[in-house]
Amino acid sequence: MEQTNLSLTLREQHKNLVGMIVKIKEQAAQDTPNAEEILKELEIFKESLLGHLNIETSEFYPQLLEKLSQSGKDIDKTKEFIGKMEGIASQVIAFFETYNNTQKINDNIDHFRTNLDKIIDILSIRIEAEEDFVFTDWEYLAM
Ligand SMILES: [Fe+2]
Repeated sequence: MEQTNLSLTLREQHKNLVGMIVKIKEQAAQDTPNAEEILKELEIFKESLLGHLNIETSEFYPQLLEKLSQSGKDIDKTKEFIGKMEGIASQVIAFFETYNNTQKINDNIDHFRTNLDKIIDILSIRIEAEEDFVFTDWEYLAM
């Protein structure tokens, strides 16, 4: 992927991911939610998110650490930050594992809604943190 545009691509993906999960929340909020439709959207969302996380883990973060050390910056904070971001990713992946069939969604739609809200919250934290901290660092270094 093109180096300087990497953070811009990732920012764009964040927007798309938020749009997708908000749509799932709206579907789940209906009086009689369609679990099949929710599961389908959830699987598309999962694939997009995993693709995004893969770019961050295998391309963005290693390259950022390299750029930071090359410019003589302290990378301890960034490494600590990456560790926290990995923790967030594991929580989101656990959610997908909890709701991997329509029965699990239908059995307790209220729990699904509550857990989905939690996932949206922690995902938003990760997105905001990345955009405010590491993407900003990346764009500053690219100038
Ligand atoms: Fe991200």
